[in-house]
Amino acid sequence: MSDVVGVSRDGDVAVVTIDNPPVNALSHAVRSGVFEAMKGLKDDDGVKAIVLACAGRTFSAGADITEFGKTPQPPSLIELINEIEAMPKPVVAALHGTVLGGGFELSLGCHYRVASAAAKVGLPEVKLGLIPGAGGTQRLPRLIGPIEALKVIVSGDPVPAARALELGALDEVVDGDVNQAAIALANKVGAEGAAPVRLSERDDLLADVKADPTAFNEAAARLTARARGLEAPHACVEAVKFSLDLPVAEGMARERELFLKLMNGDQSKAQRHVFFAERQAAKVLDMPKGTKGRPVEKVAVIGAGTMGGGISMNFANAGIPVTIIETSQDALDRGLGTIEKNYNISVSRGRMTEDDVKKRMSLLTGSTDMADVADADLIIEAVFEEMDIKKEIFGKLDTLAKPTAVLATNTSYLDVNEIARMTSRPGSVLGMHFFSPANVMKLLEIVRGAETEPEVLATAIEIGRRIRKVPVVVGVCFGFVGNRMLRARSLETEQLLLEGATPQQVDAAITRFGFPMGPFAMGDLAGLDIGWRIRKQMGGSADGGSADVADALCEMGRFGQKTGRGFYIYEKGARGGTPDPEVEALIAEIAAKKGIKRREIGEEEIVERLIYPMISEGAKILEEGIAQRPGDIDTVWINGYGFPVWRGGPMFYADQVGLKTIRDRLNHYAETTGKEALRPAPLLDRLADEGSTFASYAKEREQAA
Ligand code: 3HC
Repeated sequence: MSDVVGVSRDGDVAVVTIDNPPVNALSHAVRSGVFEAMKGLKDDDGVKAIVLACAGRTFSAGADITEFGKTPQPPSLIELINEIEAMPKPVVAALHGTVLGGGFELSLGCHYRVASAAAKVGLPEVKLGLIPGAGGTQRLPRLIGPIEALKVIVSGDPVPAARALELGALDEVVDGDVNQAAIALANKVGAEGAAPVRLSERDDLLADVKADPTAFNEAAARLTARARGLEAPHACVEAVKFSLDLPVAEGMARERELFLKLMNGDQSKAQRHVFFAERQAAKVLDMPKGTKGRPVEKVAVIGAGTMGGGISMNFANAGIPVTIIETSQDALDRGLGTIEKNYNISVSRGRMTEDDVKKRMSLLTGSTDMADVADADLIIEAVFEEMDIKKEIFGKLDTLAKPTAVLATNTSYLDVNEIARMTSRPGSVLGMHFFSPANVMKLLEIVRGAETEPEVLATAIEIGRRIRKVPVVVGVCFGFVGNRMLRARSLETEQLLLEGATPQQVDAAITRFGFPMGPFAMGDLAGLDIGWRIRKQMGGSADGGSADVADALCEMGRFGQKTGRGFYIYEKGARGGTPDPEVEALIAEIAAKKGIKRREIGEEEIVERLIYPMISEGAKILEEGIAQRPGDIDTVWINGYGFPVWRGGPMFYADQVGLKTIRDRLNHYAETTGKEALRPAPLLDRLADEGSTFASYAKEREQAA
């Protein structure tokens, strides 16, 4: 009857199956297919009950996001769900895989829900800058109570089947064939002739919170406390409140209104862009179709320091054994000790059990003999950022690693090609740039060398996804995508101080823009002495930018948080730093020495001078082919540097602001400051002239590839 929806019979039970790979998104074809199927079954006397199931790897994972923003085609998901709920005979949903968003809402319109043990249910719309828009905010509170529903909806996190059963979101969880179990339940309830249980008709679980909303309000405040700048978490609370304050039909209508408002707003557009950009970023335009990575069963990590330890934890978390190599037993013991300590912190926070820690630690083997890399399928070098040491290690690895091993360097800046040339197999070498703390940060820049083979690149991408990172393929240049753009920003940060801004003004402007921290607070946290020592060794800053203030602070022993003083003062026990008049005097003194006349600097200028040069650098990165797409750059900045997700990343943001504006402002600052480095990149200039966007440039490039 439809390409994507089929109906079969099992005795008195009709089974409606959606088959729309890969995730059974509820496209127009699916909605109309299910709608027609239900209509046909409504009056079919031979059918006593219905099972709604999905083929393939998952029950529906939600609305088809690619349809958002286009003219809606009936039936809407709401109409479909209402139709199912109103069916005169019981409808049982058979759930497997990731039952998310509109998919879960579809199941809430059914009268019963049976799930396989491995299934997860959830309403992740908030992560797309949305609220559930097909009744989820009205039906889920009626099923599991408003406070639990609020947690599911505001967090957007999937709930494992066992927990969902406890909450009352599911009727049964089964180990075996979920469709058979659903058919069995349908047969049972069909034979009993029981009236369908319609969630929208239930109000019993709302009564307590209606009588006393204190606990609900507290939960709402807690859940939205960290929603810096985001609209959707607050809208989720508002929508769940509709279920308490309004009759169900009105609640549904208000939910829809709010959903559409968010869907057409800038934040959701940005977050939907990020969703697709993250998935695109691991796709390599010139990779031969069907390229598969080499199997990875064992990993070796060279270096048990902060990075090596964090990197190893990722693999242990994914159940992959790791051999950690260090030069001395002492360093090894320290490294393994730190890993165990980090795991124990997770236990104390209730995120892990002691058993989990044991399992993970048992996957980590220490060794002081480099020859123990011999059986590893992937070797990641994570030692100091020094070319000579890295080269020496790769020379050794070449003689010790098995022929099929992938050899990766975790470098932040260095030339991967130069490192690869130390081996007789540069095709097997690439960069895997993790971000600190490596067990937490999602970003993984995969640095493709000039000779890296497609199969090797595919290995890194596949393993990146297995350890739950967001892999982005980038090319070789100083700092790759992320740090190269950060450098463009850093060149302006101190300059702004000398010209008249204060550290707290700069930091406030950047946090108001949406970053979790400003550059000076960040510097204090990371330790100002690191850059200072490097500059001393190199006889100046690598980029020619001024670090006079930071250097002067370090000369005074002010290294940041760890010494209680840096750009700010840190009182014992206080969370953040407080401004220090001494620092302001120091800045004025340095500016005077340099002959810089200080002036009032507004927030707009601070933001523009920090963000626009990054965008211009991003344009150069694109033109040079270091990043394949603007969305890849956005993915790097959102997952590695805290760029606000609701602004979609620097390149998406640039398109929103308008490339002409950005180009003109950069020219303006180049003229007013006399800094030619602030001139816009040629690509930015050209696209601005053409009235074009990075997004259209990306499309053209993708089509040409
Ligand atoms: N709409 C359109 N395409 C989707 C989609 C959706 N809801 N969900 C996934 N896809 C696409 C992905 O873009 C990807 O396409 P590609 O292969 O061309 O890159 C493909 O399906 C496979 O997705 P993943 O690579 O993410 O596969 P995984 O197996 O890693 O993850 C998943 C599967 C957990 C389902 C993940 O895709 C996911 O989280 N999807 C989004 C779920 C979601 O947000 N649902 C809510 C949608 S909004 C909604 O329902 C509104 C409603 O309330 C009215």
